[in-house]
Formats: sequence, structure tokens, C-alpha cells
Amino acid sequence: MKLTNYEQDVLNGKYGEGAAMAMEIQVAIGETFDAPRMVPVTRTHVALSAQDADLWFAEKLLSKGAKCKIPPTINPSICIKYLNEHLHEVPDEGKNIVFATNEAYRKLGAQLTFDCTPYLQQNVPAYGEVIAFSESSATPYVNSVIGARTNREGANSALCAAITGMVPEYGLLFDENRKAEILVDVQADVKTDFDYQILGWCYPEKYKGLEVPVFKGIKERPTPEGFMNFGAQLNTSGCVSMYHIAGITPEAPTVEAAVGSKKIKREIVITDKDLQDTRERLCNEPGTIDFAMFGCPHITIRQVGIIAKVCEGRKFKVDTWLLTSSLTRELADRMGYLSIIQRAGGHIIADTCIDVPPCWKPYYGSVGVTDSPKCAYYNEIRGIKFLIRPLEEAVEAAISGKVVK
Ligand code: F3S
Repeated sequence: MKLTNYEQDVLNGKYGEGAAMAMEIQVAIGETFDAPRMVPVTRTHVALSAQDADLWFAEKLLSKGAKCKIPPTINPSICIKYLNEHLHEVPDEGKNIVFATNEAYRKLGAQLTFDCTPYLQQNVPAYGEVIAFSESSATPYVNSVIGARTNREGANSALCAAITGMVPEYGLLFDENRKAEILVDVQADVKTDFDYQILGWCYPEKYKGLEVPVFKGIKERPTPEGFMNFGAQLNTSGCVSMYHIAGITPEAPTVEAAVGSKKIKREIVITDKDLQDTRERLCNEPGTIDFAMFGCPHITIRQVGIIAKVCEGRKFKVDTWLLTSSLTRELADRMGYLSIIQRAGGHIIADTCIDVPPCWKPYYGSVGVTDSPKCAYYNEIRGIKFLIRPLEEAVEAAISGKVVK
């Protein structure tokens, strides 16, 4: 890589050991991908996880005096206070790692947003902006829906970018690598936000390659939640950092524009039957449930409103959790949704992820309902089985205590 004098000075430690460590990692990544140079970023988002490796890395940088030049927003962790009051006393090992991680990121200069949908609030890039975002739903959203440019950063590489304020120039930062090589003919009827959960899971079941796909045949623009669901599942079931929807996403006014000078390597057809088969594989048999969980990715105010409408004047039979950002929780309070959900016996918890052990230990080995395949997939490891249903049906299940179909 060709470094400027300033970048070479950072690497040599002129601006501190922490910045040098971050730069050394980024130069190694750049050389791996044959990046010609470093380029500045204007935004960063770090998929903090409050787990051992994450804490080790953040503290290592901190001990070397690192400070974020482009303060990142960060992923959710655990709201220990709320869980202590409403579910269980979070075990010490959980508390300790959460407090230490939060403190490390605060000292590094991160914005303590604890939210996994920064692209909807608080850290929204513009078309063409070069950024460094980690987090599975965030990367496809900013690349595909907004047209900003990021590679599929890990939490560690995104934190390095936040510290140096730059990234190696490779991959999705270049026009030609954003062009589609896989044509996906969607013959299925895709309309609802839940349909996008299923379509997002289905495509990587048919093709696992890393090339950018262009979807054609989708007639109506998905809602922000539909896009959010789509990217989250594409990048969980598979590894899709960017996609196009012909006639809808900004770099794909047509299939031809999405493909540019690339060649289509493979054509894939997705029919109603394909979506039905994926849905049957994912959704599990009806049955009784022990709890309900919504918010992977963090739910939006519109989704909170949908849940409030279904449960207004009724009672949840099982523990019901809505996970969201502190801003959306505050908005839900102002709009009266919080009190409706609390009167039904449900919880809106801010700053919290479905995947931070031992946050949800009381549910290990039990059965939940959710609308998110990603939530179900991440919790398999803890022996939690989820029945997956569209949002309104899942809320009805939380009220009756069972999934009926
Ligand atoms: Fe968000 Fe955690 Fe799910 S970061 S997308 S709630 S795994």
C-alpha cells in the first residue's frame, strides 16, 4: 500500500501507540485485499458485543492510549438495571463484562447509543459517503438502500477505522465491485415485512456466494422495516454485504445499470413454493410458548405501534420483551405505546441485545416466539427454541400463550 507521510507517521507511532496499533491492523487488511491506499471515513459503527474478545481488544487499544477520531455509534449490550428489576439478578460475570466494556468504549470516545439500527436513527449516512460499519443488518442497509459505501467490517476493524479515521480502499468502496453478478428473478409474491424475513433467508439457501446479487420482479418498495429484515436475514443466513433491487435501490434503476460492465454468472429463480418451503423449515410446528421476544434487529417505533395495537386492553400470558434503542423507547413513552404494552404486562427494554450471555439465562432450554429468524438462529446455541411467525401473529401468541398455526 502507498501511505501518505501522515499515515506513515501514524503507523510509526508519532500519534501514539494506540493509533499505531489500529493502523497496523488496517494496513495488514489493506495488503491482504491489495488496497492501493487508505481513504478517509466520515462515519463508523462498531458491533460491540460485550463478550471476552471484544473487551480484550477495546482495553488493549485503550491501554495504548487510543482515542476515536470518528466517534462510532455502537451495538446494544445489556440494560442490567432493567433486567435485575424485571427478570433476574444478572450473574456477576455478566455484570462485570458489561460494565467494563461500556467503560472501555466510553473512554475510547464512542457514542454510547447501544443500538443495532444506527442507519435509521443517529448515524444515517448519505449516498456515496465512505464509512466503516459493522453489524449484519447495518452493512447491507447502508450499502444497498442508501448507497453509502462500506466493506463488511468486523467490530474490531470498524473500531480501528474509528480510531484512525480511515479505511483501506478495497472491495465495496470501488464502483466495479458494487455491480451485480447474480441475477435473482423473484417470481414470488413478496409484500409484507415478514415476507422479506423469509426472502432474506431463502436466497442464501439457494446460493452462498459472496457476489453482489440484483433482485428483479419486486414491484413495490419495501418499508424501512422490510429492508431492515431483508438485510439482517441475507447477512445471517448468508454473507450478503450488498444487494440491488431493480427499479428500487439507488444504484439499480434497471437490471442493466446494476450489472454495468460485469457479467451475470448465475441466474436464480425464487418462486412462491421456494418461500413456502423456507417458511416451513424455519417456522416450526405450532405449540405452547414460554416467552416472546421482538427486536432483532431493534424494533422501530412503527413496529412498537403495531404491537401496541394488538395488545391494547389485553394481557400477555407469557413474558413479552420488546428490544429497541433508548430513543425509540422514549418515543414510545411519549406516544402512549409504552403504557399500553406495560398494562398488558410486556416490557420495552432499551440498549439490550438478544445475544449477550448470560442476559437471558432464565429462558435457556425453553420455547419462545419471535418474528426474526436471526433471533432464533443466534439462540439455538443456548438451547432456546423459537417458533417464528409474522409480527402480529407472534403478538397474538404472546397473548394466548400458544402458537396456533
Ligand atoms: Fe441487534 Fe443483537 Fe439482533 S445486535 S440484530 S439484537 S443479535
